[in-house]
Amino acid sequence: MAVCHHQVPFKLFTPIPPPNPKPIFRCNLSLPSRPTLLTAEPEPLYTSVKAFAPATVANLGPGFDFLGCAVDGLGDFVSLTVDPQVLPGEISISEISGDHSSKKLSKNPIWNCAGIAAIEVMKMLGVRSVGLSLSLQKGLPLGSGLGSSAASAAAAAVAVNEIFGGKLGVEALVHAGLKSEEKVSGYHADNIAPALMGGFVLIQNYEPLDLLRLSFPLDKELIFVLVSPEFEAPTKKMRAALPTEIGMAHHVWNSSQAGALVAAVLQGDVARLGKALSSDKIVEPKRAPLIPGMEAVKKAAIEAGALGCTISGAGPTAVAVTDNAEKGKEIGERMVAAFLKDGNLKAVASVNRLDRVGARLVSSIPR
Ligand code: HSE
Repeated sequence: MAVCHHQVPFKLFTPIPPPNPKPIFRCNLSLPSRPTLLTAEPEPLYTSVKAFAPATVANLGPGFDFLGCAVDGLGDFVSLTVDPQVLPGEISISEISGDHSSKKLSKNPIWNCAGIAAIEVMKMLGVRSVGLSLSLQKGLPLGSGLGSSAASAAAAAVAVNEIFGGKLGVEALVHAGLKSEEKVSGYHADNIAPALMGGFVLIQNYEPLDLLRLSFPLDKELIFVLVSPEFEAPTKKMRAALPTEIGMAHHVWNSSQAGALVAAVLQGDVARLGKALSSDKIVEPKRAPLIPGMEAVKKAAIEAGALGCTISGAGPTAVAVTDNAEKGKEIGERMVAAFLKDGNLKAVASVNRLDRVGARLVSSIPR
């Protein structure tokens, strides 16, 4: 069944406030391997701040748990206020708004992804005398495969760090976000690292954390078509579906595809990037059957001219790539139609570019 164009819900480049002119992160290609732990308690520089963190596409096909990138136009906001009503050294979640699925989120900070990351950053900074109140504005639905928990954690980590003057570097913030991911969805940094750092990020090692920023050339066009069906795929469940061991042939195949993917990112070769993104023989074949219509959606994307397509993160969002935004819109429509026809699922398409900045402060009120 075809879906008429006007029926397809479509979002194109939702405007997100530009990054704060002040750079939040001090890192380039290589990062120090230990999180910072400060001894002197910092004073808050602001009465309140608001931070944004973008959606992320983890895995990118063969890069399971070690490759991810940030996409523009979608994400979560965290507002943070110095609050004398909150016990010193503690954080309270005053409000959670946004997508209907956000109602499921706990307001208890120790069970909330933004709360956990915020507490970790407060601990790293040694905050003992100031209480904070946090409001979370969800732009990303839960369990969508767009790094929803990581976006909340990244925005919260940046907000806490920035309200105290931005003393921690990005690696410390990734550590804080990873604590949150570990508790809510699993120990993986391929959402939280790009949500904080922007662009493409490769996790070469977890213990100690070793992150590589992969620069996609500025003059090349890379378009992500993200199609999210009305279906929840909790990361924990989608991780439980994976094999614990793989054969040598699959290891060789996936490693060569991941290597090609990294080369394609650095060279800005979108055709090769798409080919590699489509090629996962280990994770995608186990997860795709758990998402109604996914196999047909991938086929529809390629038939519509996408250069590659796979599951975004743990799903259920499907991600396709192209080098042309207009074509991206058409690909999205075909993917939405395939989700409806083969999966009986309504879906929303969005056409996005790379977010090269990552989590950032969007407004602040000085004390
Ligand atoms: N690498 C993780 C997974 C990402 O695929 O389980 C989850 O968003």
